[in-house]
Amino acid sequence: MNNQTDFGYESVSYQDKQERVSAIFSKVAPYYDKMNDFLSLGLHRYWKNKFIESVKVAAGDIVLDLACGSGDIFLKLASKTEPSKIYAVDPNKEMLFVAQMRTAKLQLYKKKPQIEINFLCAFGENLTLIPDNSISVLTLSFGFRNVADRMQCLREIYRVLKPEGHFYLLEFAKVQPPFDQAYNFYRDHCLPVIGKFLFNDTSSYQYLADSIAVFWDQDKCIRALQEVGFVDIVSQNYTNGIVCCYQGKADKSSL
Ligand SMILES: C[S@@+](CC[C@H](N)C(=O)[O-])C[C@H]1O[C@@H](n2cnc3c(N)ncnc32)[C@H](O)[C@@H]1O
Repeated sequence: MNNQTDFGYESVSYQDKQERVSAIFSKVAPYYDKMNDFLSLGLHRYWKNKFIESVKVAAGDIVLDLACGSGDIFLKLASKTEPSKIYAVDPNKEMLFVAQMRTAKLQLYKKKPQIEINFLCAFGENLTLIPDNSISVLTLSFGFRNVADRMQCLREIYRVLKPEGHFYLLEFAKVQPPFDQAYNFYRDHCLPVIGKFLFNDTSSYQYLADSIAVFWDQDKCIRALQEVGFVDIVSQNYTNGIVCCYQGKADKSSL
C-alpha cells in the first residue's frame, strides 16, 4: 500500500507528515492569527467571510469544524447562525487551546447558551468519536492540504455527514493567469523571508509556501470529492483562484 504523501516538495510517510505538521502548528499557535494577517495582507479575513456567507446552517443543525485551528470559522458561524451543537476538531492541542481561550473570551456560553460547543483533539483521517450520519454541516478551512491521507479524510467526512449533509471546503488553489507569476513569486520568495524577519522562523514559512505550491488544483479537488460520493459539487474561486471554496452534498440515497 502506498502511504506516501507530500510534505512540501518532499515525499514522506503519512505518520511522518502528521508529526512534522503538528510540530509546525505547535510552534506557530501563539502567533497564528497575527501571522495570517501579515502574510495574506488581511485577505484571509475577506476569504473567510465570503466562505461563511456560503455556509448554510439551519436552526438546530449539528456542525463540525474540522482543522478548526484557532477557531476563526466556528466562532463566526456561532455568532451568525443557530446550530444546536458545534464540534471544534483539530489534532493539535496548542491550536485547540487558542480556540478554547478565544471561545471563553467571547463569552459565547452567555451570548449563545443554546449552542453546545465540544472541543475534540483528532485527526481528520480518524474521526472515530463522531458517529456515522450525525453531522448536518462540516467545514474545513485551510486545513486540507495539511492532512496526510486526504482521501481517508474525505471518506471520514462523508461517513459522519447525515444523508444530504453539506461539506464546505476552503483551501489554497491554482491562481489563474495573468496573476499567477506575480503570486507564485510572492509565495515562493517573499513568504519565507517575511516569516524569518517577523517571526524568526524560516522553516514553518517555507513549509507554508511549499505546501501551497504542491497542493491539488481545483480539478483534482473536485474529482476527489466526486470519488468519495459527494454530489451537486460547486466551486468558486476567490481572488483569481488564490483560494477556492468547494461545496458538496453527501449523497447517501443508495444506502
Ligand atoms: C492553517 S490552520 C487552519 C485553521 C483554521 N481552520 C483557519 O481557517 O484559520 C490548519 C490546521 O489544520 C490542522 N491539521 C493538521 N493536520 C490535520 C489533520 N490530519 N486533520 C485535521 N486537521 C489537521 C492543524 O493542526 C491546524 O490547526
